[in-house]
Amino acid sequence: MKTDKQLTPKEQIEQLRNRLHEHNYNYYVLSQPEITDFEFDSLMRQLTELEKEYPEFDDPNSPTKRVGSDISTGFTQVKHRYPMLSLQNTYSQAEVTEFYNRVKRGLNEEFEIVCELKFDGTSISLIYEKGQFVQAITRGDGRQGDDVTHNVRTISSVPLLLRGDDVPEYVEFRGEILLPWSVFEDLNKEREAQEEPPFANPRNAASGTLKLLDSKIVATRRLDSYIYFVLGEELPSNSHFQNLEKARQWGLKVSKAITKCKTLQEIFEFLAHWDLERKNLPVATDGVVLKVDSLQQQRNLGFTSKFPRWAIAYKFSAEQAVSRLKSVDYQVGRTGAVTPVANLEPVLLSGTTVQRASLYNEDAILELDLHIGDKVYVEKGGDIIPKITAVDRDSRTNEGEKIVFATHCPACDTALVRDEGEAVHYCPNTAGCPPQIKGRVEHFVTRRAMNITIGPETISLLYDKGLLNDAADLYELKYDDLVVLERWGKTSTNNLLASIERSKEIPYERVLFALGIRFVGETVADKLAHAFPSIDLLKDATMEQLTQVDEIGERIAQSVVSFFANEVHRNFVSRLEKHGLQFRLSEDTLALRTDKLAGKTIVISGVFSIHSRDEYKAMIQQNGGKNSGSISGKTDYVLAGENMGPAKLEKAKKLGIKIIDEHSFLKMIE
Ligand code: IVH
Repeated sequence: MKTDKQLTPKEQIEQLRNRLHEHNYNYYVLSQPEITDFEFDSLMRQLTELEKEYPEFDDPNSPTKRVGSDISTGFTQVKHRYPMLSLQNTYSQAEVTEFYNRVKRGLNEEFEIVCELKFDGTSISLIYEKGQFVQAITRGDGRQGDDVTHNVRTISSVPLLLRGDDVPEYVEFRGEILLPWSVFEDLNKEREAQEEPPFANPRNAASGTLKLLDSKIVATRRLDSYIYFVLGEELPSNSHFQNLEKARQWGLKVSKAITKCKTLQEIFEFLAHWDLERKNLPVATDGVVLKVDSLQQQRNLGFTSKFPRWAIAYKFSAEQAVSRLKSVDYQVGRTGAVTPVANLEPVLLSGTTVQRASLYNEDAILELDLHIGDKVYVEKGGDIIPKITAVDRDSRTNEGEKIVFATHCPACDTALVRDEGEAVHYCPNTAGCPPQIKGRVEHFVTRRAMNITIGPETISLLYDKGLLNDAADLYELKYDDLVVLERWGKTSTNNLLASIERSKEIPYERVLFALGIRFVGETVADKLAHAFPSIDLLKDATMEQLTQVDEIGERIAQSVVSFFANEVHRNFVSRLEKHGLQFRLSEDTLALRTDKLAGKTIVISGVFSIHSRDEYKAMIQQNGGKNSGSISGKTDYVLAGENMGPAKLEKAKKLGIKIIDEHSFLKMIE
């Protein structure tokens, strides 16, 4: 391979573009970044500089020419009335000074800079008409984004009605949707117990949550919001600061950490203060945003091809610490996946003592070329699980052994396998490997699955006694088996037995999730249950039938097929069936589903009196129809309430689309 120096500028540019395209996709489409923001920004900078130096290689599709896109299928796309811009980023105080001086030269008059925290979540545009919340749109590519109104409606800090009598006819608020640290930590604990991959940071968790199709799950996630910009034709003031004050009065959540500064000195004081103080905040922040306060001055300064000239984002650098690698352990999960974990000499980092760091997989270890005793750099950044970002090879003595990935399972000594094209090692001893057996039972009993109140210690105890080898054994436990256990009495025995008995009422969707089929999380289980309303249908479903279900791809379909192809699993399921667990959708759920609106696309508009908008959406889906956010040639009906927007009405009329009211709609699905 050629090194960087040997590449021609053209090749370097192409390589950087490819890498950035790839990282952009990981970040915006998959919500699974593989590099830190800092690394991403530094690649972007390298590319920007090369492109400036060699304008002959200009490309309208270069990653430097566009803001990232988070558009994913499954949501209606809506055009932003005002584009959603992003800001120029900097990590250096010298560039903050340059920004200040540029503004000063550009304006040549008095000005003030508003300093705000840069919240590290996912950006949102909230639209209010006549004081009513009407729509929430993600940033998307900046020009159009996804309509996530139904999900945002579940966020308590987003007001559904604005307060006060001075609310404009139309107003948009720009802000950030965030998952508080505490919720993030709980969510990851739960995900880890269920062997779903943990979210890397609250930002990914927030954007992932906002894109869930089921707003019921969104509601349980306790998202939060902060507003940082107000847009519209009739704004209360010519000052950004005052507009935010007003937004706060109207009931939106606006951070108190906002200061108007006149001098660079004041700006640097704000930066220094919040670099430390932000660690005490309940939500993640990754910097400070500086904005010129006067809207008139903002207009005078205008925009470059990508960014406003009147604002800049100063990013805090991730905290690092230096430690030494003592050893590497391997953890086995319920699916048999083996994760390497580094044991480090304890070191203080962002307020907590770190002594373990995830090493992800064999490739990650090889890339770092890790040896025992290595001096390693650990970083937390926005991520809760610390990671080793670099190794100091120069200070390496030759005593430390090179880390070679385990060949055998640490729990049952079976030879590990790594499938071609996969990064993860697995222990193939599914039936006999203790952490896998216990892990499957632990997953089965979790709150969101069968909700049986039994902890990991008891599961382990019962496993050791030979009473619990799979989750079906739970239903065969006897009073006499339990009451004799150490520190167990009548009450705890009866409680556990009662909780096991109650689990027989848990609906089919959740039983399906409890089975622990790889890649079948809560949402997928729900989809499968509706597409295959009984286990007998699902058991014999083909790849083709499975992949026809919305959002079920090859990977999930393959996993379902091979699960049921295994005699051990079929046996397990039939034992559970014998014990009376629910293996078909309930009559109630089934009875509500019809095909009355099959093939019909319906747009909902206006305010309703009999049911809420969300209820109408659910009814459309229940009856096989499709709800869409914007009127187009594909629309069959507009379900119109009071105060339907005149533009929409006109468009519908022009296209000859049938407009129906609540009563006619309810008749249609009667
Ligand atoms: S102002 C033109 N203010 O940071 C004004 N953005 O590139 C644009 N962000 O993704 C944004 N906190 O969602 C602004 N106090 C704040 C912010 C903020 C977080 C996000 C924003 C965007 C990125 C800026």
